Amino acid sequence: MAPPEITVVGSANLDLVVEVDRVPLVGETVLGGDLTRIPGGKGANQAVAAARLGRRAAMIGRLGADEGGSILRAALERNDIDTTALMTTRDTPNGVAMIAVGNDGDNSIVVSPGANGRVTPADILTAGELVSDAQIVLLQLEIPMAAVEAAAAVATGTVLLNPAPAAALPPGLLEHVDILVPNQTELAVLADHDGPVDVETATALARALPVENVIVTLGAAGAMVVTPDESVHVPAPAVTPVDTTGAGDSFCAAVADGLVRSLSLVDAVTWAVQVGAATTLRPGAQPSLPTPTEVAQLLA
Ligand code: RIB
Repeated sequence: MAPPEITVVGSANLDLVVEVDRVPLVGETVLGGDLTRIPGGKGANQAVAAARLGRRAAMIGRLGADEGGSILRAALERNDIDTTALMTTRDTPNGVAMIAVGNDGDNSIVVSPGANGRVTPADILTAGELVSDAQIVLLQLEIPMAAVEAAAAVATGTVLLNPAPAAALPPGLLEHVDILVPNQTELAVLADHDGPVDVETATALARALPVENVIVTLGAAGAMVVTPDESVHVPAPAVTPVDTTGAGDSFCAAVADGLVRSLSLVDAVTWAVQVGAATTLRPGAQPSLPTPTEVAQLLA
């Protein structure tokens, strides 16, 4: 069988979502709507997003041997994602994310990694060609760093790291990364920068990192593409978001989709800001991930 176009090594969470008028402040209690359970997790979201965009995708990671794990596996398989190297961990619950979504579409998330925290470098070796021969390997930081490092090291295709949630990276990891996709908060952590990151500072901070291609996501303002040759601001379509959960994940998958289709990096990001914006127009993580037809319809 041909290797995947896009392999995701990462997390799969059951998202426990409550809509609230506004996300609570520290120490505050707010009342919300009914609880919904939705397939999510940055890794699984990126795999489903890639598949919905038409790519042949594989998912590497660990699920719990519980209802959450069954829901996540079924969601991935419904989207024709290769799950042959997606392990089930017997003694650990599935990853869970507790998400409050405010009526401005913004959210606040607490993740309990569960089985995601058991992914090991040995799992990456077991996955073999699914990682080593994929055209693009998508990585995030909701699994142990040692597994992220192992995947980046064995990949022979393009390695895209979405350093979320924000964390300091071990020395040497970025040597294996071809494209880094942080948001403003994550860029500040990686660059050890105090204070806000705006469009102007993003370019300087990105250039100081030891990665040739950095795409800084700027939320409603779009994204900055920073390479040794250029720094290009790509604006996002103006939308009124319903729920931003998963928009960063579909953005990363759409960059990868564009590169598989041989678009330039700037053209891939121009596509990705549309996919990300379209994702904010429907609730939930995986249910909101659009096909190309849906991107056009949602943004029309
Ligand atoms: O990026 C969104 C995802 O972050 C959610 O689906 C949640 O599971 C957390 O991992």
